[in-house]
Amino acid sequence: MAIGGGVPSLPCLALLLLLVSWNVGLLAIARGLPPCEFPAIYNFGDSNSDTGGISAAFYPMGSPTGETFFHRPEGRASDGRLITDFIAEHLGLPYLSAYLDSLGRSFRHGANFATGGSTIRRQNESFFENGVSPFSLDIQTAHYDQFVARTSYLYKNARAEKFRRSRLPRPEDFSKALYVFDIGQNDLAAGFRKMTNEQLNASMRDIVSQLATAVQHLYQQGARTFWIHNTGPIGCLPITLRYIRNPMPGYLDEIGCVKDQNEMASEFNRQLKGMVMQLRGELPEAALTYVDVYTAKYSLIANSTRAGFERAGKMCCGYEWEDKHVWCGQKASINGSEVVAGSCEDPSIFVSWDGVHYTEAANRWISEHIISGLLSDQPNVPITHACYRL
Ligand SMILES: *[C@@H]1O[C@H](CO)[C@@H](O)[C@H](O)[C@H]1NC(C)=O
Ligand SMILES: *[C@@H]1O[C@H](CO)[C@@H](O)[C@H](O)[C@H]1NC(C)=O
Ligand SMILES: *[C@@H]1O[C@H](CO)[C@@H](O)[C@H](O)[C@H]1NC(C)=O
Ligand SMILES: *[C@@H]1O[C@H](CO)[C@@H](O)[C@H](O)[C@H]1NC(C)=O
Repeated sequence: MAIGGGVPSLPCLALLLLLVSWNVGLLAIARGLPPCEFPAIYNFGDSNSDTGGISAAFYPMGSPTGETFFHRPEGRASDGRLITDFIAEHLGLPYLSAYLDSLGRSFRHGANFATGGSTIRRQNESFFENGVSPFSLDIQTAHYDQFVARTSYLYKNARAEKFRRSRLPRPEDFSKALYVFDIGQNDLAAGFRKMTNEQLNASMRDIVSQLATAVQHLYQQGARTFWIHNTGPIGCLPITLRYIRNPMPGYLDEIGCVKDQNEMASEFNRQLKGMVMQLRGELPEAALTYVDVYTAKYSLIANSTRAGFERAGKMCCGYEWEDKHVWCGQKASINGSEVVAGSCEDPSIFVSWDGVHYTEAANRWISEHIISGLLSDQPNVPITHACYRL
């Protein structure tokens, strides 16, 4: 069977179906199958993909967030769009509404359960002290269950009210939707705060297995297509790097990132990849893609100038003063006068928005590199073809 060889014959088609269910996307492309038609996206994660959850649950996100694209705060920790937004655009779907932000929203094409500060494992720290979200992954999947039950009930009983129904997901779309995960970074951050590296490494298996539990749970509810991001190079975040003075030799890697933090992220990723492979065996009717976001982010930071980012190591938004730092958008009193930590003139030449989160320009670059499938463990299967086909 030649690639792009027109309409397949009948025996050919039978073989095709067999092969497709075995190695979903790659063959889908090779045999010229049309793109998947994802009617919706359901996203689980932290601030890297939160489109308004934590902002609605606690205090609204203030300016200058959103300034580049939305021209007002839109609940995202960036100057504009996140990777999730670029994925939605690429699939021809609207930006995801946060489950916790119901005002004026439509959930026809999915919902976002991610909240800034979320971890995979429950933490016993407070949102007010350390910014840890109470909506850990198990709560996010509980929210998903509520969402399915409530919207299915309302959809069934809203026959007369077209308007309301049009904002609800079609019950048959849940199994055709794309289920995205981008979570784990805050489990590492909490680990660095509270544990030795040995303890954190020892707990990695439990962290990853709780992510597996979430995937299995969604599969049992009918989810079939999973797109799972690994975690980024946490040791390259400008907020961490700015406090490091006179590091010991070997503390930083060749591009100036904290080596042991990145090694821990890589350990998480190694185990996550293994978990995804194992789940492929356990969940026969699913397509799972492991996506190496780490490599996209690390390459961008390492080769930022070539990618058009002149100020890669710096944060665009925030106020830096001697050994102090005022978070993006916050006010502080310095030498008796009030300063507001504002943003830089041109966010598009920065990789980092606020020292932790990426700028829209960086998110766009990263999205382009993962959407193509080049960094997936089903190599060269673009996101448009990564679905489970019945
Ligand atoms: C809180 O976290 C610490 C460190 O992980 C752990 O030792 C302790 O048992 C936890 N406490 C509760 C009440 O969960
Ligand atoms: C974590 O532990 C494993 C062994 O279980 C070891 O191979 C790995 O190097 C450790 N990783 C880190 C970052 O300490
Ligand atoms: C940066 O670019 C150079 C030249 O293309 C390449 O050899 C290197 O692997 C890149 N570094 C990373 C971390 O991607
Ligand atoms: C604050 O005051 C000190 C002492 O007068 C001065 O050295 C420093 O530059 C001032 N810092 C700022 C940010 O104005």
